[in-house]
Amino acid sequence: MISHLFYQHDLSTVANLFVCVLLLTVVLAGCAKTDTLEKEKIEQETFGTLEDGREVSLFTLTNANEMEVQITNYGGIVTAIRTPDRNGNMDNVVLGFESLDKYTAGTPYFGALIGRYGNRIADGQFTLDGTEYQLPQNDGNNHLHGGEKGFDKVLWDAQPQDDGSLKLTYLSEDGEQGYPGNLDVAVVYSLTDANELKIEYEATTDKATPVNLTNHSYFNLSGHPDSTILGHELKINAAQYTPVDNELIPTGELKDVAGTAFNFMDFNEIGARIDQVEGGYDHNWVLSRNSDDSLFHAATLYDDTSGREMKVLTTEPGLQFYSGNFLDGSMQGPNGAPFVQHAALCLETQHFPNSPNEADFPSTILEPTEIYQTTTIYEFSTR
Ligand code: GLA
Repeated sequence: MISHLFYQHDLSTVANLFVCVLLLTVVLAGCAKTDTLEKEKIEQETFGTLEDGREVSLFTLTNANEMEVQITNYGGIVTAIRTPDRNGNMDNVVLGFESLDKYTAGTPYFGALIGRYGNRIADGQFTLDGTEYQLPQNDGNNHLHGGEKGFDKVLWDAQPQDDGSLKLTYLSEDGEQGYPGNLDVAVVYSLTDANELKIEYEATTDKATPVNLTNHSYFNLSGHPDSTILGHELKINAAQYTPVDNELIPTGELKDVAGTAFNFMDFNEIGARIDQVEGGYDHNWVLSRNSDDSLFHAATLYDDTSGREMKVLTTEPGLQFYSGNFLDGSMQGPNGAPFVQHAALCLETQHFPNSPNEADFPSTILEPTEIYQTTTIYEFSTR
C-alpha cells in the first residue's frame, strides 16, 4: 500500500515535471517565434534629411514568404514591392527610387499617398454649405491630387506597430491647400503572410470637407520597367466608366463599357485597344458593386512573362486606371533604365473625379460627425 502510494506520487511528480517542461518549451518557442517575426516584419533606417532638417525614414516590411515592401514617411511613398515570379525570383514591381532626393526633386506621384482629394476637381472650385472654395489649379485649369503640396509631399509621423504594420499620421490644417477643416489622417500599411499589401485609411475633420484618399503606385509586374505594361492583361469588374472631357474631367455621365475599348469585364491585353483611347487610359471605372461598402474585387492584373498576378480589392466605388501615358523616359530607375511611356500603370482606388461638383456621384464630403474609413488591398500571387 505504502509503496503503491509512493509509486503514484512519483508518477504524478514526473508527469507534473513533464507538463512544466512542455509548457516552458511552448512558451519559449512562442517568444522566439514572435521575436523573429517582429524583427523580420518591420525595420527602420534613415532615408535622408529634408531641407528644413527633418529626418526621413525608410521602413521595410517583410512577411513569412520574404516578400518585401518599402515605405518612406515622406509622402507615405511605397518605394518598392518585391514579390516572387513563377520561378521564385524576387523583383521590384513598382516604379521607385532608392534615395530621398529623387522624390523631393518631384515625381508624377510615384507610390505616394494622395490627398486631401485624389484626382481632379474642375477649376479647383466647389461650394459647400453655401461657401465657395478655390483650390490651387495645379493641372491646367483644374485641381489635381490635393494641389501644389498634397499629402504626397508632406512628412508623415510614422509609428511602426507591434504587429509589423506601419501607421502613418498627418494633420492637414484648416485652409491647407484651400480645403476647409482640420483633417486628422491615419494610414496603416500592412503586409500579410498571404502576400497582400493592405492599406487602411482613416480621417476625421472639424468642418465639412471633401476627402478622397488613395495610393498612386505604378506597377509593372514583370519587374523590368524597361519593358512596357502594354502586354499585361487586365480585368476590371466594372460595367460602366465615367467619360471625360478634353481636360480629363468627367462629363457626369455613367457610360456602359460594353462594345468599347473600356470593356475590361474579361481579361484584355492593355495594348490591344489603347490606340482607340485618345492619350491612353486615364479614366475612372464605376465598380459593379452592390451599394454597400464592403471589400470588392475591383481588378486583376496579370503579366504572362513573369507569371505574376495582382488582385485589387477595395471598399471604394471607383478605380482610376492610368496607363502611364505621361511617362516620357526622362526619369531613370535605380538600374539606369528609363521610365518610358507605359513603363507602368496605376490602379487607384477612389471616389469618382470631380465628385464635389457632381451631385449624382457618391458623396466625398466628410462631416465632423463622421469617420472616413476605407481599405484597399493589393494581393500578389503567381500562375
Ligand atoms: C493620375 C491622373 C493622371 C496623371 C497622373 C500623374 O493618375 O489621373 O492624369 O496626372 O496621376 O501623372
